[in-house]
Amino acid sequence: MLIDTHCHLSKDDYENVDEIIKNMDGYMITAGSDDKSNLEVIELVNKYDNVFGVLGIHPESVTEYSEESIQFIERNLDNPKIVGIGEVGLDYYWDKTHIAEQKELFIKQIEIANKRNLPVVIHSRDATLDTIEIINKYPNTKFIFHCYSASLEIAKELVKRGVKLGIGGVVTFKNSIKLKEVVKGINLEDLLLETDSPYLTPEPYRGKKNKPANILLVAQKIAELKDIPVDKVIEVTGKNAIAQFDLNIPL
Ligand code: NI
Repeated sequence: MLIDTHCHLSKDDYENVDEIIKNMDGYMITAGSDDKSNLEVIELVNKYDNVFGVLGIHPESVTEYSEESIQFIERNLDNPKIVGIGEVGLDYYWDKTHIAEQKELFIKQIEIANKRNLPVVIHSRDATLDTIEIINKYPNTKFIFHCYSASLEIAKELVKRGVKLGIGGVVTFKNSIKLKEVVKGINLEDLLLETDSPYLTPEPYRGKKNKPANILLVAQKIAELKDIPVDKVIEVTGKNAIAQFDLNIPL
């Protein structure tokens, strides 16, 4: 089962979101990042059987969100197609001036997830150690490390405690030596496929806008790196996604 566990399906990025969804032979989890995208997530999950969603306030939106933003998320967790909180976390690449606020927002959203027993999709950029320090305080929470980019050593520690690693188009890039080591060194059972569409388009389409259907290119690269059939990658990562997000999909 091909499942793109992380994409951003937005009218701002695609002329025709419906066509992008129709071209994906599989399931997608579209992620919110602010008020506008969270609303779009709700619209899409209500419209399409094969689209699930996660809701959250991205660290880049830390100065923009309001109490109503949080209430909107909490209210919509009653929707059975909303399967987690995300993407949330820490980003010190774009903004180092609101680190305390980013941490506070991240923790607030983990606690919302915990009330419902939902998984949390993490965005972490230039903030690996602080991210790990926070998630270590929540040993019972199911985490997904979206677009994993840290070392194999750290990956081994994370998967030991049940964190799943999202692997996307970056693994197809020539210079992604560290990520290829991670894919080779971590069991397939701990990996999830993702595109992060419209970003991070895999080779050979790098430079073009990404779409969930490109998830197959990620699966093929993982199969090549692990020297296993691509069907095995699709089957196992599909099961991983169903388990981690508790997706209601007939197997
Ligand atoms: Ni994303």
